[in-house]
Amino acid sequence: MKIIRIASLLLALVTYANLSPAQTEFEPGAVWYDDQGQVINAHGGGLLFDQGTYYWFGEKRGKSASEGVNVYSSKDLHSWKYEGVALAKSTDPASEIATNGLMERPKVIYNPKTRKYVMWFHLELPGQGYKAARAGVAVSDKATGPYQYVKSFRPNGHMSRDMTLYVDEDGSAYQIYSARENYDLRIVKLTDDFLSATTQDTLLFSNHREAPAIFKKEGKYYLITSGCTGWAPNAAALHTATSLFGPWELLGDPMKGPQANITFDGQSTYILPVQGKKDAYIFMADRWNPKDLKDSRYLWLPIQFKDNQPVVEWKDRWSLADFGH
Ligand code: DGJ
Repeated sequence: MKIIRIASLLLALVTYANLSPAQTEFEPGAVWYDDQGQVINAHGGGLLFDQGTYYWFGEKRGKSASEGVNVYSSKDLHSWKYEGVALAKSTDPASEIATNGLMERPKVIYNPKTRKYVMWFHLELPGQGYKAARAGVAVSDKATGPYQYVKSFRPNGHMSRDMTLYVDEDGSAYQIYSARENYDLRIVKLTDDFLSATTQDTLLFSNHREAPAIFKKEGKYYLITSGCTGWAPNAAALHTATSLFGPWELLGDPMKGPQANITFDGQSTYILPVQGKKDAYIFMADRWNPKDLKDSRYLWLPIQFKDNQPVVEWKDRWSLADFGH
């Protein structure tokens, strides 16, 4: 009796002090909660590692509404602290980021020269659906924001919808973006302050692709993209190149396992190099729920290398320890 009483007292204490054992496994497709017990709302996201902390930026969605950009922080990629809205919608109806427009696929990089955190995202102007196809830029002195909206444009006049940012080993930054009604995937080098596009802007390929996610391993770039079927999932494609400006070679579909042909019912958004681990990359995707976008799930899976080629195999559960050292 006494033992049971002590055990339940301990359990209550642990629950009260939130000392439950640290989570060590990822469960792709499960409901993921933040430190406040709220479902994480950060879709089409991207991560930034800055001074020992990961920051997860993503679309804050309502049922269908775009409600700005949320940011969460974590030291271990498992427990996520809600830091709030990093970039809010404007209450001024004349603003480019007024409530009834869209902010999608936000990505943040740090500029060591200006000491600013720079966010780029796919901006659709209020009330125009997906017609405007522009890149939006916002800046902040702090990783968590609040970010100040700077401007939007079409890089070198090209439409810009789904996008990602990439900082190469030499510190140069690039935007990879879907152009010409998503038929073209392009890359543009950013200016030194990361706030604008330079004229170094090249077509990667014209395969009608979106949702670009990129990483580099041993001097080779790898790019995973999706097809263009709205919120519905489709087959992923993996391209590789030794220069960001190409030529890009198609390697095929890197997904393996049940529903691999539809990216496990998901769509790529980002590839994260895990800090402190060699050759450890996490493929991140969204499992969209178009009937209730905020209720879309996250699929994070380890990238494995088979015959030196990246492969993403479905796993119900996995842990960072699976990468080895
Ligand atoms: C597919 C894109 O990848 C998403 O970010 C979103 O724009 C949907 N299309 C909208 O249908």
